[in-house]
Amino acid sequence: MKGKPVVEPVYMTATYKFDRSDDLIDVVQNRSGYIYSRWDNPSVRAVESELADLEGYAFALGFGSGMAAITTAIMANIKAGDRVVATQEVYGGTYELLNDVLPTFNVDTALINCYDLDRLFAEIDKGLTLLYLETPTNPLLRVVDIKPLADAAHAKGAIVLLDATFASPVNQHPVDLGVDVVIHSATKYLGGHHDVTAGFICADDPWFKKIWNLRKVLGGVMDPMSAFMTLRGMRTLELRIQKHNENAMQVARFLEAQVKIKSVHYPGLASHPDHEIAVRQMSGFGGMLSFEVDGDFDQTKTFMDCLKKIKLATSLGGVTSLANQPITNTHVALSPENRAKAGVSESLVRLSVGIENVEVLIQDLEQALEVV
Ligand SMILES: Cc1ncc(COP(=O)(O)O)c(C=O)c1O
Repeated sequence: MKGKPVVEPVYMTATYKFDRSDDLIDVVQNRSGYIYSRWDNPSVRAVESELADLEGYAFALGFGSGMAAITTAIMANIKAGDRVVATQEVYGGTYELLNDVLPTFNVDTALINCYDLDRLFAEIDKGLTLLYLETPTNPLLRVVDIKPLADAAHAKGAIVLLDATFASPVNQHPVDLGVDVVIHSATKYLGGHHDVTAGFICADDPWFKKIWNLRKVLGGVMDPMSAFMTLRGMRTLELRIQKHNENAMQVARFLEAQVKIKSVHYPGLASHPDHEIAVRQMSGFGGMLSFEVDGDFDQTKTFMDCLKKIKLATSLGGVTSLANQPITNTHVALSPENRAKAGVSESLVRLSVGIENVEVLIQDLEQALEVV
């Protein structure tokens, strides 16, 4: 064919035909082509290689969701009798996997507050198979200092996994910080438009081969249409992230100046407890922030209901700004005691700042604050 498509087509095929048995055997043995789309698919491989290049790892693997990427990456690297150390402020689904599911398979898990460095290092020192980190965290945007923790875990022979969803590949470069496996929920910034559910891992060998093999077994692979949509989203990733960073910084500064706002959590603010780590570790502070309205649960709910441009919705990382009250959804399962420990108060609002005109967002927040 003379002339090839500029845009990678969507290969909507479950299986692949061969002219010769030897070719089929070669694909099965050497992953030199395609045999079955639960193993590999050209549309999925196209987005995988784009992300691997961006993150600086030899390989990436696409999954049907961020949680499929997380469960597969963790399970590929542990067995009964192993020990996992993780920061406690991980995504809710990850927390359930580590706290509720893995112990039933005889895997010991220690979940430690990300700011309690003494305890984190002490737990690593006891020995571990896998260190699991997530930064910035949800919903208080704590920033975990990756390199020293990764170094300590490596000294014990462990593998280091990082959920880098909130930072995106633009604001943070985990390969330089000693991370073995980077995980993204592509449902967020990589897809970027609130219309795809997908996930990725990025890794070098030998981690990659183990995870690829378990993806094949567990079956949580990315579908070709999601791969196409995610690759399309990634074409504007850098531009979008720049705008998310700028908008979030302006919104954070606006909120910090309001008398009806008790506190603002944004790593770009000098008032943030991890600002110095963020300056050192991140090239941009991201589009996520949270704040406490100076009021009770009902007043905060009224504030939320008065937002007009900013949508009341869970999820994050897309072009449209979304806000939620963590206590009503993402952190609803936590006991009041654990909620207090996690810093999730009844007046806390999480905001995923989109790429709209920032003045429109600020006006929206301003008019909703008037009712509090
Ligand atoms: C940081 C983080 N990791 C992982 C996930 C799970 O991703 P998914 O919903 O694509 O399974 C989420 C979802 O909100 C998340 O915020």
